[in-house]
Amino acid sequence: MGVQFKLNGKMVESAASPASRLLDVVRNEFGLTGAKCGCKEGECGACSVLLDGLLVNSCMVAIGTLYTGPSVAQGTAGTWFASGQVTVGSSGGGDNFDAILWDGTTVIDSCRFTTTSVSGGYVAAVTLSGVLANPAGNIRISVRCGSRTDNTINYNASSYTKDSTLTAIRIA
Ligand code: FES
Repeated sequence: MGVQFKLNGKMVESAASPASRLLDVVRNEFGLTGAKCGCKEGECGACSVLLDGLLVNSCMVAIGTLYTGPSVAQGTAGTWFASGQVTVGSSGGGDNFDAILWDGTTVIDSCRFTTTSVSGGYVAAVTLSGVLANPAGNIRISVRCGSRTDNTINYNASSYTKDSTLTAIRIA
């Protein structure tokens, strides 16, 4: 299975490896050439795209590095209350993280949080919750690091940990 993400409002699946640049994937695999290939070093901005509402240099985003926690497959009918918690830890100090609770289209709840110092590292935990009618897709929590120039969390870096829990119940 490839990497799934929403591109211009449609869920797509890329056959490219999770380490592939978002810039290369949207241009070469999906034929979207509006994002230009310039410096490929995060300097010129020619490759800028909106990623979950944030402007990022797509040459610096690996498609598999946005952390998305477990999702709840709830179907597309009814009104749902969803609540979950995300916990992030880093060995370095004071990173900012952006977390959203969403269905792949509509953001139900969001927050920016900063890790704080504890013995042995830096951690933060936040709870997101809200109500959504007729979800467009699985409800999930996604997180990115706002302190990094590429807005990603290193999946495999030993200096980062991340976890999330999520439940959703139909209320109407
Ligand atoms: S190509 Fe220059 S910032 Fe991405």
